[in-house]
Amino acid sequence: MTTAAALTAELETVLAEATTRLAAADDLATVAAIDSEFLGKKSTVSAAKQQLGALDADQRKAAGQAINAIREALTGQVEAARIRVADQARAEQVAAERLDLTERLSSIRRGSLHLNTQARDRLEDVFVGMGFTIAEGPEVETAWYNFEALNIPEWHPARGSFDTIFVNLGEPEEVMLRSHTSPVQIRTMEVQEPPIYIVAPGRTFRTDTADATHLPAFNQIEGLVVDRGITLGDLAGTMQEFVHAFFGREVKTRLRPSYFPFTEPSAEFDISRPDGSWLELGGCGMVHPNVLRNCGIDPEIWQGFAFGFGIDRLAVMRYELDDIRELVNNDVRFLHQF
Ligand code: PHE
Repeated sequence: MTTAAALTAELETVLAEATTRLAAADDLATVAAIDSEFLGKKSTVSAAKQQLGALDADQRKAAGQAINAIREALTGQVEAARIRVADQARAEQVAAERLDLTERLSSIRRGSLHLNTQARDRLEDVFVGMGFTIAEGPEVETAWYNFEALNIPEWHPARGSFDTIFVNLGEPEEVMLRSHTSPVQIRTMEVQEPPIYIVAPGRTFRTDTADATHLPAFNQIEGLVVDRGITLGDLAGTMQEFVHAFFGREVKTRLRPSYFPFTEPSAEFDISRPDGSWLELGGCGMVHPNVLRNCGIDPEIWQGFAFGFGIDRLAVMRYELDDIRELVNNDVRFLHQF
């Protein structure tokens, strides 16, 4: 005669076995097989139920409770094993289907600033370090700013030397792409009382055909100082300081007499090359009294100097380029080098 205690002990053993088998199961089919083996019709648990009828009434109750408890525990374990095995299968599938979207860093190249921008930034740094501020003006100008206020009246032969690109807006030859940055001198003096210490970098345009040393659209940096007691010595000293800061102490500077309608006296401004030859960087001079007067500044009180040189040429010189057109060809093989 079976007792409730014996039945319970037997079922505990069955539960322990099921627990071990479930822990080792690693696919759903195995879990399903364990499920039917331990909870199905032919299982020990089902058989135990059949035996309940043969027990005494008091034993029957205790045995029935034990069977139900074991059944519940088994059901819970099977369910937990199903979830674990399904999660694991899903994780394996995700890992197998994972696409590697990592980009190879070696193929990514960092961009850099254009040579002209680098040169302009350095120029600005050097002049700001000397106490100048940065000024700006429009790229499309009127004859007043590009010529007249700069002491170049309509009849003046110097107009021809600027190879100006005119814009067809109303009056002929009244509106143009600025042929130099000197109009910014006028625009600054119109709105600012001396003392004035400014540099104005910007694009300028002429009808030149592009060749190894010319571009029709190029960049200049204009400088203007207006203060009391300014002399040609201040101009020469400023140019020399600038060149030393930009190119290094070994580069020499030289002023060569020249002519511009808006400066008197005027000079070309050269720097020495390693081979001993001279390179022309731009023009400069003492601001012409007529230009000061055109801007409402009394030349008896205020004097000034001005200069203007090509940024593209500076870049060519600094980076030892063979052809100025490299700056605008946008060939990445060239641009990547700087
Ligand atoms: N604007 C002149 C040019 O483009 C350069 C210059 C600027 C000369 C200022 C004197 C003073 O050729």
